[in-house]
Amino acid sequence: MRQLFPETAEVDVVTAYAADDRPPPEDRPWVLLNMITSIDGATAVDGLSGGLGGPADKEVFRAIRAVADVILVAAGTLRAEQYGPVRANAAVQRLRRARGQAPIPRLAVVTASLELDVTTPVFADADRPPIVFTTTAAVARRGDAVASGCDLRASDGPRVDLGAALRALRHDDGAAVVLVEGGPSINGTLTESGLVDEVCLSLAPLLVGGPSARLAHGAQTGPPEALELRRVLTADGLLFLRYAR
Ligand SMILES: NC(=O)c1ccc[n+]([C@@H]2O[C@H](COP(=O)([O-])OP(=O)(O)OC[C@H]3O[C@@H](n4cnc5c(N)ncnc54)[C@H](OP(=O)(O)O)[C@@H]3O)[C@@H](O)[C@H]2O)c1
Repeated sequence: MRQLFPETAEVDVVTAYAADDRPPPEDRPWVLLNMITSIDGATAVDGLSGGLGGPADKEVFRAIRAVADVILVAAGTLRAEQYGPVRANAAVQRLRRARGQAPIPRLAVVTASLELDVTTPVFADADRPPIVFTTTAAVARRGDAVASGCDLRASDGPRVDLGAALRALRHDDGAAVVLVEGGPSINGTLTESGLVDEVCLSLAPLLVGGPSARLAHGAQTGPPEALELRRVLTADGLLFLRYAR
């Protein structure tokens, strides 16, 4: 793929993302958001992100997944995008083993309703049962329906404290890099809490309009946080922008 910044070059996408430095803070993993938007900031077309991307975006998406210890996704996106089990090809699995990582990243889901169907492939065909962060109230209501298909982690309160969930992923699961795949509402909470270390933004050459949320959408506006532009790749008219602290 063509790299435009920091210098022009032809790069191998998997190698490029694997070589990036992601030092985890002391008490939690490094948190990387990966999202695709249109030129005008749409994150979905007719409720799904699929209308924004294409083969080049899928290549980058897979390369970014290859660096993650855990892929964290909010339940709204898991349901809307009908997630399947996380997979990695043999070459990526070899690379990951050589780096001391599990061959396939673990999936973690955040939900307050626990409205998950553990008979669907994302749970039933997973390499390891996905971790599900939820509330004790939801477990009392729905725990029996889902416990067999996932690794349930419940905490008190109406919502999952994402900072605490990230700390648990670091200390209990040894995760150094957590990739967050959205959607906008969980991204908003993480942004408001200062828990984002890196943003990989695929910018699709489309004007979409419509009602979809921005990349990070929340209730509060904190002080803007500056990230540094680290890399720009391009293919098929898309830009793949990597920003980090
Ligand atoms: N363009 C892209 O790259 C991209 C990426 C991802 C998603 N999307 C799009 O974004 C849309 C979905 O995003 P969204 O913002 O509506 O929803 P979302 O962030 O994916 O999911 C929201 C849901 O996640 C759970 N959740 C989030 N934070 C939580 C917390 N702190 N505690 C407990 N539960 C929590 C809740 O699930 P429960 O309802 O189960 O309680 C909540 O209703 C879809 O259209 C999808 O296609 C686009």
